[in-house]
Amino acid sequence: MSATFTLVDVKKHCTAKDCWMIIHGKVYDVTSFLSEHPGGEEIMVELAGQDATEAFDDIGHSGDAKKQLADFLVGTLEGYVPGAAAAAGSTGAAEGSKDSSCTIQ
Ligand code: HEM
Repeated sequence: MSATFTLVDVKKHCTAKDCWMIIHGKVYDVTSFLSEHPGGEEIMVELAGQDATEAFDDIGHSGDAKKQLADFLVGTLEGYVPGAAAAAGSTGAAEGSKDSSCTIQ
């Protein structure tokens, strides 16, 4: 689990069939979890390939939900500064805009 990804890497995985997201500087492959997510698949796919930290925290996910994250971890985000996640754009250095560049959904 020592892989490091850039925001551009993560953005490539932006469909319901290949869905990665960033939460607190960690990169998760949640593809297999989409259909099981209690909050629904669609809400997750909307954030596919993006930083979902704010959305994840805003929901007030339970401790169980936070523990579940570990099952999907694939690596960490390059250049991640703890605590700066809410400042969208700061996590990806100059590599991409805030909005997903995904065009194949
Ligand atoms: C890998 C990431 C995620 C995991 C493991 C996860 C897991 C869960 C779990 C276990 C629940 C049930 C309630 C709880 O235990 O807190 C839940 C509910 C929910 N999740 Fe997520 N979630 C993830 C990402 C997201 C994201 C990115 C969103 C953002 C929009 C989201 C939106 C919701 C909503 C709206 C509910 C509430 C459903 C309800 O109460 O009717 N989740 N999630």
